[in-house]
Amino acid sequence: MAEETSPTGAVTDKSVGNGQPLLRLRDISKHFGAVQALYGVDLDLPSGQVTALCGDNGAGKSVLTKTIAGIHQPDTGQMIWEGREVHIRTPGDAAALGIETVYQDLALADNLDIVQNMFLGRERLSGLLLNEDSMEQAAKETLSGLHVTTVRSIRQPVATLSGGQRQAVAVAKAVMWNSKLVMLDEPTAALGVAQTRMVLDLIKRLKDHGLAVMVISHNLNDVFEAADRVAVLHLGRMVAQDAISAFDRQSVVDFLTTGGSAREVGGSSAVA
Ligand SMILES: Nc1ncnc2c1ncn2[C@@H]1O[C@H](COP(=O)(O)OP(=O)(O)OP(=O)(O)O)[C@@H](O)[C@H]1O
Ligand SMILES: [Mg+2]
Repeated sequence: MAEETSPTGAVTDKSVGNGQPLLRLRDISKHFGAVQALYGVDLDLPSGQVTALCGDNGAGKSVLTKTIAGIHQPDTGQMIWEGREVHIRTPGDAAALGIETVYQDLALADNLDIVQNMFLGRERLSGLLLNEDSMEQAAKETLSGLHVTTVRSIRQPVATLSGGQRQAVAVAKAVMWNSKLVMLDEPTAALGVAQTRMVLDLIKRLKDHGLAVMVISHNLNDVFEAADRVAVLHLGRMVAQDAISAFDRQSVVDFLTTGGSAREVGGSSAVA
């Protein structure tokens, strides 16, 4: 995939490799009052690949993620899911398509145990009662399918888990609901070395399961380890998007910090 475009060649359908992307964003803009957060953003998220979304603080990464997740509505632009235009107006719309988001604060309920968290709002019933056995079994199978083995008991309150384990539960929750796209906002930001390793492995496993994964990260080590593709936002514009092999660390840093304007001709801006 490396040969298709240079980083500065940026957004083209060719940069995606074979098959159409699971989700394509085209010309997505979003403003909040006087603040223009996104300008005509194009983004492709292919299945079976990890796309790292990079950008400095305030570049628009979280706004873009929340737009895909149905929390924000774009002012303009199109979202094409499996080849068809969709309108994601609520988080419920996103979930119905198979989009799950793991936010940095994780949105887990501390006082509930792992099983309760994984089924929160979608509990399985047996008659009028909760079907605890069935939920426990499904939670166990999902965690072991992801090779999450450090959790001692799935009946442990989430408050007693380490940061990496919490992240694992949040990811497992996303996987259990037959997601097709999982977006993670800074999953390793608060984690130590071993926990970061566990989360990166988890991300690889998601892609091996054929999911499209989008990871927001400030950490270039993580990006170069886990990503198949890189997309860089600079001040609300998508300035580069290509296979990871088209980048080196310095070029990613250049796009992050200057939007690519320090680089030679070839069109630093991905979006016309
Ligand atoms: N709800 C909101 N209301 C007004 N402005 C907002 C809102 N959300 C985000 N913004 C603005 O949009 C811009 C992009 O913010 P965003 O949170 O997407 O940045 P980010 O790339 O996620 O940064 P960070 O790396 O710091 O998390 C910022 O200028 C921010 O102040
Ligand atoms: Mg953010």
